[in-house]
Amino acid sequence: MKSIKDVNFKGRKVLLRVDFNVPVDENKNITDDTRMRESMPTIKKLLADGACIIIMAHFGRPKKGGFEPEFTLEPVAKHLEELAGCNVKFTNALLGSGEPEKMAAALKEGEILLLENIRFYPGETKGDEALAEQLSKLGDCYINDAFGAAHREHSSTAVIAKFFPNDKYFGFLMENEVRNLEKLMHDAPRPFTAIIGGSKVSSKIGILENLIDKVDNMIIIGGMRYTFTKALGGKIGNSICEDDKMDLALELMRRMDEKGVKYYLPVDSVIGDKFGNDANTQIVPSGEVPDGWESMDCGPESCKAIREIIMKSKTILWNGPAGVFELSTFAKGTNDIALSVADACKQGCFAAVGGGDSVAAVKQMGLADQMSYVSTGGGAMLEYLEGKVLPGIKAIQD
Ligand code: 3PG
Repeated sequence: MKSIKDVNFKGRKVLLRVDFNVPVDENKNITDDTRMRESMPTIKKLLADGACIIIMAHFGRPKKGGFEPEFTLEPVAKHLEELAGCNVKFTNALLGSGEPEKMAAALKEGEILLLENIRFYPGETKGDEALAEQLSKLGDCYINDAFGAAHREHSSTAVIAKFFPNDKYFGFLMENEVRNLEKLMHDAPRPFTAIIGGSKVSSKIGILENLIDKVDNMIIIGGMRYTFTKALGGKIGNSICEDDKMDLALELMRRMDEKGVKYYLPVDSVIGDKFGNDANTQIVPSGEVPDGWESMDCGPESCKAIREIIMKSKTILWNGPAGVFELSTFAKGTNDIALSVADACKQGCFAAVGGGDSVAAVKQMGLADQMSYVSTGGGAMLEYLEGKVLPGIKAIQD
């Protein structure tokens, strides 16, 4: 792994790609700066070395080409000043105008320039080589710390690396993500339990298929479990289901049996008569949901059984909540899993949490720092777990 740890960047013009695609509220206040904070060790090391740091980042999905006020990185620049404790140079002007070029050239040791949203260039998401070359001319080496965008083969996340064949590195965030994911996929202490949830089987097919060869236990939770329950002949009332994925669900269960993977589907469910915190609720066996009712969480028997599996595991991967945890009425299943995983970590289990919703759940519970590792990547982590090669990682390793 090409780490920055043993390299001194004093006086070098470092092109640093980060993922500062953070959530903001309607007043552009950042509501979760985890990704920015997780890149600070890399930025602080470069500042301590005395590097001239040119940061490339994207924000949202601008489509028009050129500057769009809605997608400016300006709020991010301001917050970065607070985190880094120094002035951050920033301009709305784009490459070609001469302004960012001049600012990059004038950068002194220990100074930071944040370029405006890299997706304002239409070439970025197409992986345009000319744009990558234009960017490369601003610096003399390249560091990728943008794990969240590592599944994108874009000019600034992957293509640019070819202009620095001997001077390209992973930042600390990226190094940490890759090390933890490699441990999960290739060197996981056993028993290894995957807890996979989320609303749709179709969005988790790749990960389920890839994990069948790697795990000892597979706990299937969230909305996707009703497709499995219905495929097994259960009554699921109005619970969400992908009827066209029922055969696939049966096939996945057959393959898990064949491989000796123990799979677990919740045996009971918290059902509601409407989608809302004020719904009437009941607890019923999972395959006996009456018409007009929707299952929205695991029941107490399931929580107990899931906890037992978790507490016997040495490795856990958790991706996707157990129910509609954003409604407090249906949050208990997800919260119980978060608590159980935290308890397992206390007794030495290695637990990785990834995927927007499960990460939000552990944060909501204040348990994020009790997990062994919480990924900053949504789609990137998912694609890695599906066994895909991520272009942002490959570009540095090649
Ligand atoms: C993310 O938020 O998952 C990353 O920043 C990637 O963003 P994208 O899905 O718009 O490429």
